[in-house]
Amino acid sequence: MSAQSMEQLVSLCKRRGFIYRTNEIYGGLQGIYDFGPYGVELKNNLKNAWWSEMVYQRDDVEGIDASILTNKLVLKHSGHEDTFSDPLVDCKDCKNRMRADHIKNSKCSLCGSSNLTEPREFNLMFKTNVGPIEDENNYAYLRPETAQQIFTNFKNVLNSNPKKIPFGIAQIGKAFRNEITPRNFIFRVREFEQMELEFFVKKGDDEEWHKYWLEKRIEWWGKQGVAKDKIKILNVPEDELSHYSKGTYDLMYEFPHGVEELEGIANRTDFDLGSHSKNQEDYQIDAKVIKNNESNEKLVFTDNETNETYIPYVIEPSAGVERGMLAILNEAYNEEVLENGKTRTLLKLKPHLSPVKVAVIPLKKNDEKIVSYAKEIKKKIQGLNIGRVVLENTGNIGKSYRKHDEIGTPVCLTIDFDSLENNSFTKRDRDTMKQERIDIETLIKQINKS
Ligand code: GAP
Repeated sequence: MSAQSMEQLVSLCKRRGFIYRTNEIYGGLQGIYDFGPYGVELKNNLKNAWWSEMVYQRDDVEGIDASILTNKLVLKHSGHEDTFSDPLVDCKDCKNRMRADHIKNSKCSLCGSSNLTEPREFNLMFKTNVGPIEDENNYAYLRPETAQQIFTNFKNVLNSNPKKIPFGIAQIGKAFRNEITPRNFIFRVREFEQMELEFFVKKGDDEEWHKYWLEKRIEWWGKQGVAKDKIKILNVPEDELSHYSKGTYDLMYEFPHGVEELEGIANRTDFDLGSHSKNQEDYQIDAKVIKNNESNEKLVFTDNETNETYIPYVIEPSAGVERGMLAILNEAYNEEVLENGKTRTLLKLKPHLSPVKVAVIPLKKNDEKIVSYAKEIKKKIQGLNIGRVVLENTGNIGKSYRKHDEIGTPVCLTIDFDSLENNSFTKRDRDTMKQERIDIETLIKQINKS
């Protein structure tokens, strides 16, 4: 079962410390969110799962962490200055601003008026001044995608870590878009994180690699709790492709507000490396590149065996961290009616994504012996370095179970008077609520095995 509405997720996320509106005490900032104690853990766990699969489990991918502030020439030659825009429409009656492609029946989404302006293009990039002089020419952009910093570092990575084609460069980091209508909680925001791989292949092998990454990415989402049958593949129609793409598969997921893109897997051809290369005319480039490049590097690959020098094609799986979190929270959200008629809310997160791995709960909050034994157990488990392990010393077992069900803690351990006698405690499973008596050695063995 997934959540019935976005409100259920928003409410749980705020109540339990996953996600807050940013600067709420000053009225917030639209389309921007902060991640609380459990939100940051879920986010980090998701990013680690991506990095592990895309970098650590492979021999053909290197990672980078590049800057957010970006030279304006990069985004000029990438085509973003000219094309990275959405059509904007204003309602002349209530002044509401809307994306033209989101309007239904030519009516204002707020007041229903048909008195709308003609659409005009609105560039989504954030500009900022760099250095002490604030003049019109002295600006940089906050990157609208992490990808461009990978392309501009193509030669750096290759020179320091020689690779054979195919190989990839991965990056996780912030991206910024001045969305006209940020909406649907963390689905469409102005500041977000992307997990992107640029995988460089030889022209001719590109279609095969495109399909390979499509399969791989669907498989990966399955491991995060978004099953294969929950994802629909959209082969993006030609007239809707981004300016750099020859073909894109969008992984579409049914979010609480509707079916929308979770991740895009694009065939960017030789567009980006071609557009950013000096002496472009010396190379055979298939894409319609941005001409007259001002860079001082040729982003080419030389095959040492054949001596062939060429601009590789790029396959790009690009996923949003926030959209991933939203899909995972939606899938994990469950409400169960218990035998006593009460409803239990729980997040059935995959354990590797759970913000808290183990909660240790002393039966009595003021009993020194029980509490100090509980602290000892907690310390031993913390020593295993499995992530967050907490002591939940509220003295209210039921309340603690409810909290940890709602934040998705897979295991709760309750320390009672018998624990002091026989060195065992009660282990409660989040999903089945089954309880078993266990000692620390057995628990450590179980954790090490999992
Ligand atoms: N480098 C390719 C690229 O940026 P995109 O389809 O524009 O392609 C990739 O973005 C992913 O980034 C999307 O599938 C989505 O998960 C995420 N994303 C894009 N815009 C977003 C926004 N405003 N808020 C949250 N996530 C966003």
